[in-house]
Amino acid sequence: MGEFTIKIIKQLKDNYSYILQSKNNVNVIVIDPSDASKHISYLNDNNLIIESIFLTHHHTDHTSGVLDLINKFPSAKVFSPNKKIVGTTNFIKNGDLIKTSINEFEVSSTPGHTLDHIILYDKINSLLFSGDTLFRLGCGRIFEGTLEQMYSSLEKINRYPDNTEVYCGHEYTMNNLIFLENLFSDNKNLKKLKKEIEGNDCTIPFKLGLEKENNPFLNQSSQYYENFKKKYEFTNFELFKFVREKKDQF
Ligand SMILES: [Fe+2]
Repeated sequence: MGEFTIKIIKQLKDNYSYILQSKNNVNVIVIDPSDASKHISYLNDNNLIIESIFLTHHHTDHTSGVLDLINKFPSAKVFSPNKKIVGTTNFIKNGDLIKTSINEFEVSSTPGHTLDHIILYDKINSLLFSGDTLFRLGCGRIFEGTLEQMYSSLEKINRYPDNTEVYCGHEYTMNNLIFLENLFSDNKNLKKLKKEIEGNDCTIPFKLGLEKENNPFLNQSSQYYENFKKKYEFTNFELFKFVREKKDQF
């Protein structure tokens, strides 16, 4: 274990993959690669070797780079929550603690977007790789699970400490913000946030504490959504369901 940096690798239209790079050795960890060419050129340029690849779920925009990477780095282990994902060497599930030479990940199952979805939490370094479960100001579309499953998955994330730095699977922040502004037009905080991120083509990572205030998918008890809940007599789950269903039509 030791110090490491996180390199953000933009993928496809708006996907994010990440490279965790040790400051003391040549090993790196790759998360959710879809287009391996960017990883390979960066790793070659810096004489680095992939120790392991971690995958958050089976969608191809998070996994299609795996085969090219293991062709190039045959000793790389592939940690995935679904044995059907090609290249998987190590199946991971809820509650697993995976030690790498760089850090340690706690695996947590977060079904909703897909049934196999997991998130990776590094407690010591206060980092969360949330895949397509939590986005900045949004959450993943529910493809395989139920609204109830997604709600409990986000509740799990809500329990992590406020200082957690979140790295998610897509750059959807501005679109999410515009959607929320339409729905919650009296939320001044969203306007402030819009000014801050306007023109940024990368709004990752973000602090979980701030997200708990602003993201109604993550935390329905935020003071900013209290009036809305009162007006419609919504429970927390009902607010989540209402906002998720509106977003699906947006
Ligand atoms: Fe996905």
